[in-house]
Amino acid sequence: MMKVFAHRGFSGKYPENTMLAFKKAAEVGCYGIELDVQLTKDDEIVIMHDETIDRTTSGTGYIRDYMYRELCLVDCYGKFEGEYEFQRIPTLREYLTWVKDTGLVTNIELKNSVYYYEHLEEKVIDMVREFGMEDRVIFSSFNLVSINKCKKLLPEVPMGYLMEARMDNMGFFTEENGVEYYHPDKNFLTEEMVQDCHAHGIGVNVWTVNKKELMKQLNNWNVDGIFTNFPDRAKELGLEK
Ligand code: G3P
Ligand code: CA
Repeated sequence: MMKVFAHRGFSGKYPENTMLAFKKAAEVGCYGIELDVQLTKDDEIVIMHDETIDRTTSGTGYIRDYMYRELCLVDCYGKFEGEYEFQRIPTLREYLTWVKDTGLVTNIELKNSVYYYEHLEEKVIDMVREFGMEDRVIFSSFNLVSINKCKKLLPEVPMGYLMEARMDNMGFFTEENGVEYYHPDKNFLTEEMVQDCHAHGIGVNVWTVNKKELMKQLNNWNVDGIFTNFPDRAKELGLEK
């Protein structure tokens, strides 16, 4: 049975990458949670998908231009305005403090592709070590430099290589880079690619899988995991491990 990660928390129903979305995912039940990290001007690791706060909060501008205390004033309302109480942008520290007692696994995506934050990898690794979460975390990135750096600094934590386009022979490529997982966009995956990765000992975790039909198909293809905005749907199908 494939593992189900709540993508940005239970983001199909609650504001993405907020403590509310993470706690609601845990309530529904899932194997793990996927989230994205960025760095503020004063080097606070915050959980946010975009490099700017424009799309998902009441504010505007680049995260890297803000002190964390300033970001505490913006509300992550997004399209869910009016349906819940004020949601602050969470820090990774706040998240790990909560998740460490839940048994959930966390996929931390290092957002180092659009803007390369210097030392984001080191800061995240230090915090994972501080919380003793090495065995409950997967790192992932679209950026091979970032992936290789994490692998060098903390080899015991599994890594996922994210890919947004079609690229064949990923089993070989991923294995060559010493990475444990291939994380493909659902639109660029075939059953043969899953088999190829498995033949190379590489796990396959697919994003972002929201439709039940696709969840069933990927489970039949024997993928290792999915990222979904709707962990409730996977639960209804009895697919979550
Ligand atoms: O980790 C899977 C997925 O989250 C990667 O794409 O843009 O949603 O971060 P994105
Ligand atoms: Ca992500």
